[in-house]
Amino acid sequence: MDKLQDAGIFPYGSEQLSTYQKHLIRYLSREFKRLEARQGAVAISNRGPMWGQTGELMEHHYDEDDRLFSTFLDQRHKAYSMAYYGDTAEEVKASPLSLEEAQTRKFKIISERAGIRGDEKILNIGCGFGSLESYLYSIYPKLEITSVTPSTVQADYIKEKKSECAHPFHGKRFTLINDDFANIQPETLGLESFDLILSIGVLEHVNNLYTLFSRLYQLLKPGGKTFHHLITSRIIIPNFLDSDNTLIGKYFPGGKVWPFATLEAQHDFFQLEQSWFINGMNYYRTLDQWHQRFWENIEQLYPSVLSEEAIKHWNDYFVLCKACFAPEDGAVYGNGHFLYRKN
Ligand SMILES: C[S@@+](CC[C@H](N)C(=O)[O-])C[C@H]1O[C@@H](n2cnc3c(N)ncnc32)[C@H](O)[C@@H]1O
Repeated sequence: MDKLQDAGIFPYGSEQLSTYQKHLIRYLSREFKRLEARQGAVAISNRGPMWGQTGELMEHHYDEDDRLFSTFLDQRHKAYSMAYYGDTAEEVKASPLSLEEAQTRKFKIISERAGIRGDEKILNIGCGFGSLESYLYSIYPKLEITSVTPSTVQADYIKEKKSECAHPFHGKRFTLINDDFANIQPETLGLESFDLILSIGVLEHVNNLYTLFSRLYQLLKPGGKTFHHLITSRIIIPNFLDSDNTLIGKYFPGGKVWPFATLEAQHDFFQLEQSWFINGMNYYRTLDQWHQRFWENIEQLYPSVLSEEAIKHWNDYFVLCKACFAPEDGAVYGNGHFLYRKN
């Protein structure tokens, strides 16, 4: 790994990387405080197409080699979203949970908050590697789940599991659609056919929340519910709403960080039943675990799977994301849970 260090790419735990991360956290803490002092109106969420740059997003991020994701994601669910260690920053830091256990805890909390009983018809938008499905089928084998991802890498992984007779994904209760959600005609999925529509770590990629919620309205049964888990900020961070002008676009073309209040204000088609802000140190710790595992397995990745440039890209990504969640001990930038009922 000397070659990487010679190229200025420093590993997890190194003094150089820790110093860089501390500087970034200090800079972002100052920025967030400055923005807190001059907050404006709720961010606009009803312009342009439902989804912005899905093709580029898949190419630049989600369709990266599966061997990369396998080195750092948890071994139990292969979840690519925040794990839940605790309610407060202190609890997160003191938590004895492994990444695997904290991911299971996240899915348990989501199931409880979304009110899953076990006999519903569910749509999961942006299913990743089927992490939520793996949790749900271990508890509720009778659920009927349709899951959507435009990522070929994620879909191939799920299809392989589906082909194994003994796997919980096998069978007619689980349907996978490998497409951009915006491209799927609501009639194909079934008008007013779902009891519950979920997304975990997906609304960060949505460009127009109004069109998304209008589509969800068409798909839900009367009285149906929709639950969303996503990265969100307590304040409006104008740059984070425009991926072309920030580093968000480098890692997630078209990505956005919606303010908490913007999600709470989505009531054209739904009534907000409840919302929860989740302390950002949960994602800090998740990302830190991913970052550590990435470096523990670096020999499997470099140079056979990732080039020097790609290692730098992912190393910077982990540090930058962690730095966003750390200011004010996770109180301003974290995750949100939003539960809505169809009007
Ligand atoms: C951060 S990952 C979360 C994956 C999964 N929900 C989990 O928690 O493990 C975001 C997911 O959103 C999906 N996604 C992005 N754009 C999408 C689109 N236009 N339609 C459907 N899914 C999309 C990605 O393919 C990916 O599966």
